Amino acid sequence: MKIATIFGTRPEIIKLSTLIPLLDRDFNQILIHTGQHYSYKMDKIFFEDLDLRDCDYSLNIGSGTHGKQTGNMLMELENVLLHEKPELVIVQGDTNSTLAGALAASKLQIPVAHVEAGCRSFDRRMPEEINRVLVDHISDYLFAPDLNSFKNLTLSECIPSEKVYLVGNTSVDACIRAMKIFNRETLEDYSLKKDSYILFTLHRQENTTYESLKEILMALNIISNRIKVFFPVHLRTKKVIEDNNIEINDNVILSDPLGYKDFMGLLTNSMFVMTDSGGIQEESVVLNVPCLIIRDNTEWMIYVEIGKNLLLGTNHQKIVDIVNKLLDNPEIIEKMKLIEAQLNQGASESIVSILKNIQ
Ligand code: UD1
Ligand code: UDP
Repeated sequence: MKIATIFGTRPEIIKLSTLIPLLDRDFNQILIHTGQHYSYKMDKIFFEDLDLRDCDYSLNIGSGTHGKQTGNMLMELENVLLHEKPELVIVQGDTNSTLAGALAASKLQIPVAHVEAGCRSFDRRMPEEINRVLVDHISDYLFAPDLNSFKNLTLSECIPSEKVYLVGNTSVDACIRAMKIFNRETLEDYSLKKDSYILFTLHRQENTTYESLKEILMALNIISNRIKVFFPVHLRTKKVIEDNNIEINDNVILSDPLGYKDFMGLLTNSMFVMTDSGGIQEESVVLNVPCLIIRDNTEWMIYVEIGKNLLLGTNHQKIVDIVNKLLDNPEIIEKMKLIEAQLNQGASESIVSILKNIQ
């Protein structure tokens, strides 16, 4: 079977990194990169860190408003799909590249497989939530990462259950593989010691308006008076900080976005992580690092429900109060680490087995 795998951003590269080599092994796969992420530290560095082969097509779409970016992708993807005539298109996650890939394929009557189907934050302010819902409803093979996602699709949204497969989470596969290639020197490079700092990331559209970012970074500045914080800054966030001259405390170590090996090295050694990232919520569970989510909701409720991760919200005082409580009572952090989470690994191999059966 000829398969086209379409992606374009940092998390898609990471979460497809264990699946892509298996698809190359068992199918005739072409890789199509939309170019949604294009800066070296958001893109190429992950191909190097994760030992991924070059793409067959790089569409170089770049940044833009949602409509412009998605529309440009759709036009270019249609050309490639008409030329290559794949029998299946695979997309991952919830980005504009995911939506454009699924839409271009379904309009051409090419079956679509969606990896990480069924995740829901139930918050339509998030562009990702719109993308997830739309992609799931035009997909033919829906690979759900956990029971919540499986139920969202089959019970709440009435997608026929024969289309939905509960396979686990490719992000867990990628993280487990990455544990062997973590960069152990990154701590020393920044003169950090294990468990002596907080790792912090922020990039969601709803958290990076000037007002929201200022509120959250106010909390960060207060927290950093008590403990060192390491903050690799996403390029979207960097732009808002620089354009508005938002001040950040000296005790916050700022860096460019990090490669996977460096980032995972810092995540695994941190006391805890504060983030609005989806992928980091999953990875922190694999690495057993408590994760404080700077959002009002999450599509990864499965980890919050068992007490492994905490929803902080975005109000600066609430963020500061909860972090102070953890710093004053480190036994709470230890208790969070003792909670057992079910790790849904092996998803990449399961997806390949299912696809082999449909050829
Ligand atoms: C996108 C995804 C989001 C995902 C995130 C992963 C959508 C709607 N959003 O958000 O779901 O969590 O990727 O990181 O698809 N920029 C650069 N260089 C790059 C990429 C981006 O400078 O290589 C800057 C540009 O100023 C750009 C901004 O970041 O306008 C936002 O990039 P974009 O891809 O539109 O959205 P993300 O915030 O990265
Ligand atoms: N990540 C990274 N370097 C960084 C920040 C994040 O390698 O500086 C990785 C992280 O380990 C995770 C992925 O990027 O695998 C998450 O991407 P992001 O937070 O941008 O997107 P989301 O998962 O929220 O869609």
